[in-house]
Amino acid sequence: MKLSRSVSVIGAGMTRFHHRMHIDKTSRELFVEATLDAAESVDNGLEFRQVEALFVGNFSSDAFEHQAHTAPLMADWLGLLPRAATRIENACASSGVAVNMGVLAIASGLYDVVMVGGVEKMRNLTTEEVTNTLAMASDDIYEVAAGLTFPGLYALMATAHFAKYGSNWEQLAAIAIKNHRNGALNPKAHFQSEIMDNAKRLGERYGMTFGDEVEFLKSNLNPVIAYPLRLYDCCPVSDGAAVVILAASEVARKFTDTPVPIVSIGQASDALSLHDRHDLTTLNATRVAADQAYKMGGVTSDDIDVADVHDCFTIAEVLATEDLGFFPKGEGGKAAEKGRTALDGDKPINPDGGLKAKGHPVGATGAAMAYEMFKQLRGEAGRHQVDGARLGLAHNVGGSGASVAIQIFGR
Ligand code: COA
Repeated sequence: MKLSRSVSVIGAGMTRFHHRMHIDKTSRELFVEATLDAAESVDNGLEFRQVEALFVGNFSSDAFEHQAHTAPLMADWLGLLPRAATRIENACASSGVAVNMGVLAIASGLYDVVMVGGVEKMRNLTTEEVTNTLAMASDDIYEVAAGLTFPGLYALMATAHFAKYGSNWEQLAAIAIKNHRNGALNPKAHFQSEIMDNAKRLGERYGMTFGDEVEFLKSNLNPVIAYPLRLYDCCPVSDGAAVVILAASEVARKFTDTPVPIVSIGQASDALSLHDRHDLTTLNATRVAADQAYKMGGVTSDDIDVADVHDCFTIAEVLATEDLGFFPKGEGGKAAEKGRTALDGDKPINPDGGLKAKGHPVGATGAAMAYEMFKQLRGEAGRHQVDGARLGLAHNVGGSGASVAIQIFGR
């Protein structure tokens, strides 16, 4: 299946993702900030009257901010009224799905230029309240009632993967180390320090010394959250927004000489409950969505030069790099440990720090992945640029894998 009309990204912007710096801002303010950044990135300028529709990915401003009906609210704050504004909720994949919906809206011929973004303001609530709110994206009857949280769900996948393939926690630690290293190079990231720097800072505070990152990560300064996952195996709770501007490829060059074409998209679903899945060590929705995207683009996993994958927990990066076909099943952790997924590796993964270090304001994450691919494929990613990247993939997962949205971007 092909898109009936080619679509490109002509601009992209985002706020920094963070847990403290946006404390006094509402999600509408974050969304406006990201949109202004996106508009500024359009080389030949963008007037908002040229935008014909708005798609907003948002998981739960209802619970986080007591504010629903998010899309027209954002349209109002951006001066986009009375244009169509639609909110899309697919848990943590909300804005990845929104990007796909924006692509389809242009491919259908209805619009030439649309704005797609995502936003989440989580830090109004305590960690306990955030955990409870996020749990709404799992099965309330079978999982939440049994006491499962998101760290708990991914911990189950990790132990299943360890048991089936002999993978181990040290491999997960290698992913955390790599993603923090990348985050330290990204001015938009929530965490901008390498793990060893944190080990030194905290070691001084508590009178401890660490020979290397792994020693620190095995210490009680990195407590277990849900065995075997420790603090540094988890993404943080962040606030932020990201926006991309999409245009039909035939009009894209009016806006910029270097549009980033969307080569293909994919989307798939799975059962919400882990107990309804055939295999805990694979996300079937990733495999199906990737298969669609590879076929639509006429490419294979080998052709992808850089990817942002959904590493809400370090084990999720292992599953993703295997299910996307980058490494054989059971080999994702080993590949990370060997440095193959580092910035200078043969398959760079999450050059922006991933959810682990860049942060994860859930509804904003898919749009932020599209932002990163826009920068990478234009060679504008600064210190975390992957040299010569020509084909990039964004992989956004909702919940424990019940929704997956993928885009492949070219140049
Ligand atoms: N990795 C590394 N450090 C982290 C961190 C993380 N994931 N989360 C918090 N920290 C650090 C903070 O920076 C802070 O240090 P500072 O005071 O020097 O800034 C310290 O730990 C305490 O932060 P706090 O926010 O109070 O942590 P917490 O103990 O309340 O929460 C978790 C930690 C892991 C429970 C929380 O981040 C979490 O729930 N993450 C998962 C979110 C999630 O499930 N998202 C959806 C995925 S599908």
